[in-house]
Amino acid sequence: MEAKKIEIKNSRDVVTARKMGRKMALELGFGSADQTRLATAISELTRNVVQYAGTGLCTITDQSNKNEIKIVTAVEDAGPGISDIDKALEQGYSSGGGMGAGLPGAKRLVQEFGIDSVPGNTVVTITLRRKKI
Ligand SMILES: Nc1ncnc2c1ncn2[C@@H]1O[C@H](COP(=O)(O)OP(=O)(O)OP(=O)(O)O)[C@@H](O)[C@H]1O
Ligand SMILES: [Mg+2]
Repeated sequence: MEAKKIEIKNSRDVVTARKMGRKMALELGFGSADQTRLATAISELTRNVVQYAGTGLCTITDQSNKNEIKIVTAVEDAGPGISDIDKALEQGYSSGGGMGAGLPGAKRLVQEFGIDSVPGNTVVTITLRRKKI
């Protein structure tokens, strides 16, 4: 089970994480639309880390098995946390003057999406998966 870890501190790291996600998706056999879905979702989540927490970690893991190709990505930080997760997932809600499109957009792009957040520990987990044929 291969895992890639990228420390997130600035917008260059966001680009690195995005590229790593795309590369792993390509190597595992996901099509170009799926590669873009994962890259875009990772970009949004890591951008939030830079914006709202300052620093964090992005871990991209190949969890493929005999039945499916599967990439699980966890983006975590030790920032202030997301106090109202339902609100944060609403299209258009932003506490920072943004579009409020990042989290709801990322959620739509992948098969599984979850947020665990308390002050000092926020983890957003996304899964891209396809059945093998
Ligand atoms: N890692 C995080 N830590 C703390 N709060 C967060 C984090 N990620 C998201 N949020 C909160 O959730 C809200 C919604 O996030 P989302 O990415 O959807 O929108 P945005 O970042 O405000 O704008 P956009 O991504 O469209 O530029 C944010 O405004 C912020 O309040
Ligand atoms: Mg955002």
